[in-house]
Amino acid sequence: MRIEITPARQLVGEVKIPGDKSISHRGVMFGALSRGETRLSRFLPGDDCLNTIKAFQSMGIDIKVKTDDKNETIVEIQGKGLRGLKKPDSVIQAGNSGTTARLMAGILAGQSFPSVLDGDASLRKRPMDRVVDPLSKMGGVFDPPGNRLPLHIKGAGSLRGIEYTLPVASAQVKSAIIFGALYGDSPTIIHQPALSRDHTEIMFKQFGGQIEQNDLSIKVYPAEELYGQNIRIPGDISSAAFFITASLLVPGSSITMKEIGINPTRSGILEVYRQMGGKISVENLNGAHEQAGEPAGDITASFSDLKGVEVGGSMIPRLIDEIPILALAATQARGTTIIKDAAELKVKESNRIDLIVRTLKALGADIEPTEDGMVINGPTPLTGTNITCEMDHRIAMMGAIAGLTARGRTVIADGQWADVSFPGFFRIIESLKS
Ligand code: S3P
Repeated sequence: MRIEITPARQLVGEVKIPGDKSISHRGVMFGALSRGETRLSRFLPGDDCLNTIKAFQSMGIDIKVKTDDKNETIVEIQGKGLRGLKKPDSVIQAGNSGTTARLMAGILAGQSFPSVLDGDASLRKRPMDRVVDPLSKMGGVFDPPGNRLPLHIKGAGSLRGIEYTLPVASAQVKSAIIFGALYGDSPTIIHQPALSRDHTEIMFKQFGGQIEQNDLSIKVYPAEELYGQNIRIPGDISSAAFFITASLLVPGSSITMKEIGINPTRSGILEVYRQMGGKISVENLNGAHEQAGEPAGDITASFSDLKGVEVGGSMIPRLIDEIPILALAATQARGTTIIKDAAELKVKESNRIDLIVRTLKALGADIEPTEDGMVINGPTPLTGTNITCEMDHRIAMMGAIAGLTARGRTVIADGQWADVSFPGFFRIIESLKS
């Protein structure tokens, strides 16, 4: 889908941000493995989360997707308990979704039937040994053993509890192990090098599982049974970040987004933007109970005079998905921005160090790659050009926001990839401009 973006003079108004992608995936997974009904409201109907739904439908779980009068997506899952899945008739397709593939690997390793897990061309390039290794230590059987999709999972029936130190601060790997630990014969202990998003831990408790968190370590107890829940999913801060950035960059702008998840393991972008001089307020903090055990609030961002910043260390996992849009913001900030300790960007939906740099350079930015990040000097005026996102939704959306601030016309040849995490993204851009 070819998308043309022209410069914006001012962006003012309220934007409806869809539900959080990470929490939507987990809601379906826990719901399917619980007893009774789980109801998820403000679910993200993006391609990634729909793939997670299809995976469980193919294993015999009744899941209905509806739209309510607020035009939000409701998902109703009739869970069949920890042992209620049946052997799928065909290959489970994760599509573009790393979260589906990696978390499902943890669930499938403990089932008593074999399965095959596959993905699209982008996901087939991404490393899977990070989940295959710990799950094999737990007794999971991957035959042939491999580091790439498709994964052939034997289904060990039950797994062993292990003590494992994560080599990278990855929530997907941590969560795959937590799901595997559900089927363990003893507790599993996980040590993290830095804190990554903790949605699995929060939701595990909410569904009745026992998990202890102590600084960077987690102890997960095998579960007898989990119980269906009613969950309202907060808006996705990773999606909101595109409009926060648009508002910071386009003169005279002010955009509000309601009920956005601000879990501290996810909201690093707000801290970094404030450090850069960004005017961002968070109001109406909601009680944790209502928002899937997750804090949420209304975010307003306004046009700001930004300055460069250095970002690295334990901040990186707290804003890993926002680095494309942060890099764009840095092209318009005074001075140098250094992003380091972010080598994980190389194994996202694309090699994001390479693709962020190539895309922003094509638009006229002063940006150079490093081994574990990038260095950006600003401000530089951007000029619209033709770009492609190479199957990476966040690069498509970064390109579109860049187009709002650039001179001339920016064309994204493959804009359809935004649907992976943000259906309706381009319509919102147009509606804000009028
Ligand atoms: C996710 C974790 C992160 C993030 C991804 C979603 C999750 O990946 O980049 O978009 O839902 O657990 P890693 O765990 O690989 O860092």
